[in-house]
Amino acid sequence: MENIIKDIDLIAPEEAQACDYKTTQDENTGKSKKLYIESYGCQMNFSDSEIVASIMKENGFDTTSDVEKADVIFLNTCSIREKAEQTVRNRLSHFNALKRQKPEMTIGVLGCMAERLKDKLLEEEKIVDVVVGPDAYRDLPNLVAAAEDGEKGINTFLSREETYADISPVRLNSNGVTAFISIMRGCDNMCSFCVVPFTRGRERSRDPHSIVKEAQELFAAGYREVTLLGQNVDSYKWSPEENNKARLNKKEDEVSTVVNFAHLLEMVAQVSPLLRVRFSTSHPKDITDEVLHTMKRYDNICKYIHLPVQSGNSRILELMNRTYDREWYLDRVRAIREILGEECGISSDMIAGFCTETEEEHRDTLSLMDIVQYDFSYMFFYSERPGTLAAKKFVDDIPLDVKKRRLAEIIEKQTALSLQRNKLDAGKVQEILIEGTSKRSEAQLKGRNSANKVVIIPAGKHKKGDYVRVKITDCSAATLFGEVVS
Ligand code: SAH
Ligand code: SF4
Ligand code: F3S
Repeated sequence: MENIIKDIDLIAPEEAQACDYKTTQDENTGKSKKLYIESYGCQMNFSDSEIVASIMKENGFDTTSDVEKADVIFLNTCSIREKAEQTVRNRLSHFNALKRQKPEMTIGVLGCMAERLKDKLLEEEKIVDVVVGPDAYRDLPNLVAAAEDGEKGINTFLSREETYADISPVRLNSNGVTAFISIMRGCDNMCSFCVVPFTRGRERSRDPHSIVKEAQELFAAGYREVTLLGQNVDSYKWSPEENNKARLNKKEDEVSTVVNFAHLLEMVAQVSPLLRVRFSTSHPKDITDEVLHTMKRYDNICKYIHLPVQSGNSRILELMNRTYDREWYLDRVRAIREILGEECGISSDMIAGFCTETEEEHRDTLSLMDIVQYDFSYMFFYSERPGTLAAKKFVDDIPLDVKKRRLAEIIEKQTALSLQRNKLDAGKVQEILIEGTSKRSEAQLKGRNSANKVVIIPAGKHKKGDYVRVKITDCSAATLFGEVVS
């Protein structure tokens, strides 16, 4: 499996290594104080850290990559699996020594763990000064100021309206070519294994005009690819009536009907044919043919869909409360192949060893993988999360060694499928967008094709942000290699 955090590709959390996170870069705009943020979890969280940096910048903070220079340290945390939370706990004890040397430093825990644990975090982790949930970031400057005066603070209020639509994110760790745009927040699905509805609150969609404006600004600043983010992008829905009435008067002429995800995709695709558009995550119950047809109409909408299945067995899917079954899922894959063809990339998330899963049901996941032929997957074993429906209703009864063995079988299957799918690209000519130099060598550039596969080419005279036509010459399970064609 590729290192999912260093190449943040999808809404796909930690897992690969014990210490996967992103930190802030050095920024020097003359502000008096320094902020260091470490971000864990999914793309939404990374995108949120950019909003946090923007709010803090307005209040006198430049970001730093050096934790020792920081006046404020934020950990933007993830609760999706137990291991994700444990990683953060370990980091907090690591910061203990630093705080002893520099007691005036403020330490904040943000994000999903803050929301899940609330004041328990202040009790359990003595070095923490502020605890702030995902919908309360506008309150950060106040809470940090109070902490500087020695007062601990917490705000885990979950909002039904907050989308941070008016905040222009500070692009952290940016390659200057690709950027995330959050289009919605929260999740109204109740997958029984999942903590996100509890940590992120109700689903709400962001004003489409602010999304298009952000895409236009990114394009004007030289960006060539945006990824529209949401836990379930296909249920994006914005109407002037349902949303902020105050904005209705201003926007009435512009948007009088409901904007769904297919419309939004089209609006963003029209910003420029040179701006690639991606999105994540699609829920199998909601992805429509209208979205697939919109993807087909625009060359700049990338032909790649992250469509997490979780399990290939209908009984387990029902226990997971995913609200689709194996047949429904396979029908959606058939629609993708019919409308967008064999070349459209499809990836998935898989959970091994969910409550009561039998060997036969596990094999249904393997057989579904064979049918779909995923390009890649993010694969996990089930980790019970307190408060979720599964934790309340079912027994986490699959022994850890069985979960791990099933996961290993899923990973082995995916590695073989990835190689098989990549081999199909050999000899083809594809357009890639250059994102920078390859990790291995300065003499090579790294780009991505429409299907979201990493393609390595000799550097030549190309630079990041260029679209280059390449012929695929070789591949591994994780990477394609190509040469430039004129
Ligand atoms: N909104 C996305 C998923 C977000 S969480 C969707 O519906 O597809 C990312 C992935 O983490 C999930 O797809 C799932 O595979 C995994 N995951 C979530 N909760 C988990 C748990 N309790 N144990 C193991 N994996 C989990
Ligand atoms: Fe979790 Fe399901 Fe919502 Fe995805 S759709 S965030 S898995 S509850
Ligand atoms: Fe994302 Fe983790 Fe929260 S996956 S939404 S940061 S629980």
